[in-house]
Amino acid sequence: MSDLIWKKTGQASMPDEAVMTFLAGEDVLLDRELLPFDLEASAAHANGLAGAGILEPGEAIRLAECLARYSTEIQQGERVLGAEFEDGHSAIEAWLTEDLGELGKKIHTGRSRNDQVAVALRLYMRDRLSRLAAACLDIATVLLERAEREQALPMPGYTHLQRAMPSSAGMWLAGHAECFIDNAELARLTRQWADACPLGTASGFGVNLGLPRQQVSDALGFARMVVNPQCAQNSRGKIEVQAVGALAAATLDLRRLAWDLSMFTMPEFGFVVLPERFCTGSSIMPNKRNPDTVELMRAVHGRVQGAQAELQSVLSLPSGYHRDLQATKPPLLGAFGAALPALGLLSGLLAEFKWDEPAMRAALSPDVFATDRATELAAAGMPFRDAYRQVALELAAAPPGDADKSIEERVSPGAPGRLELGLLKSRVSALQSAESSN
Ligand code: ARG
Repeated sequence: MSDLIWKKTGQASMPDEAVMTFLAGEDVLLDRELLPFDLEASAAHANGLAGAGILEPGEAIRLAECLARYSTEIQQGERVLGAEFEDGHSAIEAWLTEDLGELGKKIHTGRSRNDQVAVALRLYMRDRLSRLAAACLDIATVLLERAEREQALPMPGYTHLQRAMPSSAGMWLAGHAECFIDNAELARLTRQWADACPLGTASGFGVNLGLPRQQVSDALGFARMVVNPQCAQNSRGKIEVQAVGALAAATLDLRRLAWDLSMFTMPEFGFVVLPERFCTGSSIMPNKRNPDTVELMRAVHGRVQGAQAELQSVLSLPSGYHRDLQATKPPLLGAFGAALPALGLLSGLLAEFKWDEPAMRAALSPDVFATDRATELAAAGMPFRDAYRQVALELAAAPPGDADKSIEERVSPGAPGRLELGLLKSRVSALQSAESSN
């Protein structure tokens, strides 16, 4: 392991290799994902040090130039955070010291790894919540486009997994769309709630320098500062819980949608044909065409729920920083790492799957129209309970009336023009323009 940043001159005894490996845990791997944010915040901190008169403006510029170069090199795979470092924070200081000598050793003035990791995580969550909002809006857009085109495509509606009432593909599509609009909004609101800069709070008690905290916060594009240094540490993990909570809202809907699709592809329903590129075969059964993508999408929510439980249990802590907080990183990064790719693939799958219209029409057996018939009788003046009983009797004898009406005319609440798609589309546009102006 390269020189540890906390090793003192002449320190005789150190944790041995096994202990160091245990302490580092998965940090080096996870910090690879956090490093771009840590580098960005380190450059802002260098500018803050110049603002406090600790560095010359030219020195802050040299530090920021190196940090920006590391970012590019990491992106291009030319620089890797390797296991020789304890974590990403140590690597940054080591690289700067190697490149800039004495100046590199000044970067950690007035900061602790505690506010360094906290700011990197806030920036990470801000980025991932933006991606979550964008993915949810893409999904909603595809669903609404199809709902518009397919609002007249009749389909039974189910309750208790039993045929219940006439509905439409449009109703099903727009129903999922509205949920994903809500999810986009939740991601946005959660991001706004978490959009506060902890940098400059050091180990959790502030620092005896005139760091221009507000200026650093503004430079990083935060909406506000975490004012109190204790709060900066006490909120670590709590923000993660909410970020993963916003993610869970989306993956819960993803799970439901994936469940619907996997049922609709069963020959027993036969409503949906999934695009070939999302299906696999069986190694033994030549007849099989399996909806594996949909099933693994359905499994993502389990992973996210696991992360929620893990975060909550790690957070049983008193005030201030504790190394336990490092254990909030795997569930956070794991949950977003599993869910965002799944949500990213969903819009393509939704755009490409095909309905089997004859199968859907065939499933609209006469009983499905019973509620509409009773409601029509009630609208014409018969007390609803009498209408209900009359239709039940009619149904026992023969299919309910209106045999002269086409299915389209009888698909009532889900009928064309009654889905209020305009209201949903304007919510999507409002969120899209709010998100693009961030
Ligand atoms: N890997 C640590 C974490 O995620 C970084 C902070 C270490 N701070 C400390 N005082 N040991 O929390």
